[in-house]
Amino acid sequence: MRAALGHLDTLSRELEGHPLYRWIGDPQLKDSRRHYDCFIPLFGFVMSFPFYNERYLAFREDTRAPGQDTKLEDTINHHVQEDRTHARLFLADFRGLELDELWGTRHASALMWALWVSPLLDPGRAVESRRIQEVVGDEAVAPTYRYLHVEQLEKDGNLLFSATTRQAVRVKQQTGITPVYFGMHHLERESGHVGGSELEPVAFSAEQTERALKLVERKHALSVEMNDFMHRFVQMAEEAGGPEPLLSRERRERMRGVREQLAEYQAGRLPAPTWNPRPESFTEQGELIAAWHRHHADFVGHPVSALLREARGPEAVFALRCAALLFAPRISALHAFYLQDCRVAEPATGPGTPTVDFLRRAFSTEAELFFHDWEVLEMDARIPWTPAKLLEWWFFDKVYGRPEMEALHEFRRETLRHPNDPLLKYWALMSVHLMSRAFFGNLRALTERFAVDHPASPPLVYLQGTHHLLYGQMAPDWREPTCSTSLAHLPATDAQRRAVLRMMEAFAAYGRKQFDNLARALSTDRECFAFLGEEWRRIP
Ligand SMILES: [Fe+2]
Ligand SMILES: [Fe+2]
Repeated sequence: MRAALGHLDTLSRELEGHPLYRWIGDPQLKDSRRHYDCFIPLFGFVMSFPFYNERYLAFREDTRAPGQDTKLEDTINHHVQEDRTHARLFLADFRGLELDELWGTRHASALMWALWVSPLLDPGRAVESRRIQEVVGDEAVAPTYRYLHVEQLEKDGNLLFSATTRQAVRVKQQTGITPVYFGMHHLERESGHVGGSELEPVAFSAEQTERALKLVERKHALSVEMNDFMHRFVQMAEEAGGPEPLLSRERRERMRGVREQLAEYQAGRLPAPTWNPRPESFTEQGELIAAWHRHHADFVGHPVSALLREARGPEAVFALRCAALLFAPRISALHAFYLQDCRVAEPATGPGTPTVDFLRRAFSTEAELFFHDWEVLEMDARIPWTPAKLLEWWFFDKVYGRPEMEALHEFRRETLRHPNDPLLKYWALMSVHLMSRAFFGNLRALTERFAVDHPASPPLVYLQGTHHLLYGQMAPDWREPTCSTSLAHLPATDAQRRAVLRMMEAFAAYGRKQFDNLARALSTDRECFAFLGEEWRRIP
């Protein structure tokens, strides 16, 4: 174990010389807060960090064998208890330093874009996905390996926050505000170590040492990749005059593309695909397909269905807006889920990678269409909360945000646990599909009523279930794919069957909570969302 820790030290010292840290600490930009722009690529990761700690790094009490030495587990669990609170520190600085102004994320849609959807920020999301993959796989079940993961993260954090703390002195001079996340308060909690010397007495075999050294190398490579990207991003932002013009220009261009494709669709030149990812018939994987239909039927029969079906007039608009607000994180986060988490890592353990690649790339374009509907429903203008309050609600609200974030992280865990298996990835895509098919089936009545009641308004597209308008951007052969669009015809081993059933179960159990919550928002909690109603705006 000493060898692995020593190697980690060496690589960490190497990382210390990364130009990103110099850039953060430099006095070159007039507005010192701008040196925190490099956190935009980490925005989603920082906000999700409590869940990363609780759900991936912590050892769950019920999985721990009684009577075993749990010193390492205890140390890790003690550590994550502290780290999980740091997203709140970030929110305090985001609010206090008015980063929403600086980053151009005053409106909900701009927040969603930066957090989850902007293609410009995809390279950072790719690193985040592989970081999660590293800690949810079989290897990191062993406390010693997981300890190394956390130790690496700590060293990384110590370097990054040492740099932001150097800049914090100038920030304090210029704004009068002492940063807590970017300053000494946080750095004091990022010592660069998980605990003390717990790991030193652990003896590793030659094979384990080899594994540990490889793990440390992979993690280091990810840190370098992330730092490189953060550094590249701030250079792009500087050239564009700041992150605000950079990201809003990107969004404007992408939205122009959406409107062009919508016009094509309305003119009949972009018909819906003739394929879908579902199996054609009951085959080799009959029991999995049957389970899929069972789960799907549960979602179709969810009590929220009746609430949505019965909504008329202003109530229909209210329901659409509630659905948009509650499901915004899920819809947006699916962009990276498809593109990054569903990627089959090489070497693949079986056939089917082209199918998974086709589906995940095509589906990853869908979230952009949601931004069109967001505009049609005038969501930005109706949400009365500050960006910090909205972030807090989306991520940490005990009833609405937190359970949904937990669900999204469970989706990711299940999908990233078997990184090399195309069949598992296919069923991960299908597990999302079973919920969304039920969801859009329910919303359809509402979107049709909306069109009748608002003849002058552009149509709702994404919420209507029309999702193919941008497929061509990522899958040029989307009209007539050259690969099969389902993998349900392949033989499956018992282990694969068990893994797929477990995955569907987890997706359905966690995914259902937001359906429950939509029903709650439309009934018992409706007063809390009065600002989404038609009448609300007329009050001066
Ligand atoms: Fe931290
Ligand atoms: Fe930490």
